[in-house]
Amino acid sequence: MPEIAHEVLEYLCSAEARGERAHDLFSRLPLRAPVVRLRRAWIVSGHGLVTSLAVNPGLVMPPPDFPARTRAASPGFVEFFRSSMSTRPAADHRRLRGVLTKEFSGRAVERLRAPIQALADRLIDRMAARGGGDFVSEVAVPLPVLVTCTMLGLPEEDWDQVLRWAKALTAHIHSSFPGGAEPGADPMSEAEFARMRDYVGDLVERRRGGLDLVSRLNAAKEAGAIDHDEVVNLIMLLFMTGFDTVTVGLTNTLLCLHRNPGVARALRSDPGPAPAVFAEAVRLHTPTVMGARVATCDIRTGELDIRAGDTVLLLYAAANLDPARFPDPLAYRPDRERGAGVSFGHGTYFCVGAALAPLQAEAVLRRLARMTPAPVVDATGLAWRDELAFHGPATLPLSIPAEVAA
Ligand code: HEM
Repeated sequence: MPEIAHEVLEYLCSAEARGERAHDLFSRLPLRAPVVRLRRAWIVSGHGLVTSLAVNPGLVMPPPDFPARTRAASPGFVEFFRSSMSTRPAADHRRLRGVLTKEFSGRAVERLRAPIQALADRLIDRMAARGGGDFVSEVAVPLPVLVTCTMLGLPEEDWDQVLRWAKALTAHIHSSFPGGAEPGADPMSEAEFARMRDYVGDLVERRRGGLDLVSRLNAAKEAGAIDHDEVVNLIMLLFMTGFDTVTVGLTNTLLCLHRNPGVARALRSDPGPAPAVFAEAVRLHTPTVMGARVATCDIRTGELDIRAGDTVLLLYAAANLDPARFPDPLAYRPDRERGAGVSFGHGTYFCVGAALAPLQAEAVLRRLARMTPAPVVDATGLAWRDELAFHGPATLPLSIPAEVAA
């Protein structure tokens, strides 16, 4: 097996091979090994191949293969995940996606601009009042969950509970991947999962006629596009999908700005390019490393001879560094052509929240840009996340001197 294939195997199997050092591997793969075959798994890194496979109807997203400990501890959670939108049969996936994408279109999420800014201001100002803190746990973790709570129209007294549920759900997911830790500090017990499902079910029963997402999903239910259990499932899915991804995306953006002080300075005098600053950061350091698929039929294209049942990993974090698509791919250049990146996936499972995430980044960048002098990131000895699915720092100390907090 070529050395680079060994490195890929190590990345897949061992938490030690992940973190920032994986970036070097991602950058070499598109040219050196755009396709790596490990028995019945194909790991694809070339940008062209990734985008063409991402639209192939013969490749579908499989439910995670949960380890016995997760299946035993939380069968309700496992069942929920197995029946969630992305892993449903193609026709159901398309129907549910249709319902959801309408609510997350650029125009729909634009209505959330002011509330998102208010949430970002509140979290950042709270941290500033203490002279700074860990940007990840104090801003990048809570912000996306509070945005989801706002979209759902949840009362503020419930937000902390939803944040705890979101953390517990993602802990279960991480534990299901190879090299994943035991379920995190707050694993979700079966009883807790049932409480969450009852809470969401009750919300769906009661809420009608408003502008919030629950009312709008209920309207789709009354129109026959979706049933009650599917609405409940979609809402719980949003507790997870719109969470870690955004956390890592925001963190990687601050890290890129720290490493590119010229861009950071320019942004302070004109925050207009904040969406491009974010888009380029999530290209260079792609938060969601890969999309997993299983082949439902044989697929033969070029050097690929995929057999039904094979696993295909679309390595977005590597495809985003393919020099054939992005000249000088390791340079952080927010002014480069946008739209070609695959940070939000591509094709069949393209991210539903691709318009919402940049709004959250913009809100954070605008608040930080207004602070004088600029808050300072301390990136020395940064610990990176070691999950298979996510690529970004686990913590990011940010100091905001008290006198500039106002
Ligand atoms: C920086 C932030 C984000 C990143 C990097 C990101 C990335 C991705 C990627 C790469 C995929 C495709 C996965 C695959 O191909 O297997 C995806 C799918 C998805 N994302 Fe995001 N995402 C982000 C934010 C969000 C937000 C804010 C939401 C919703 C509130 C969201 C909801 C979803 C959903 C529901 C899917 C599944 C789509 C489907 O099954 O058709 N994401 N995301």
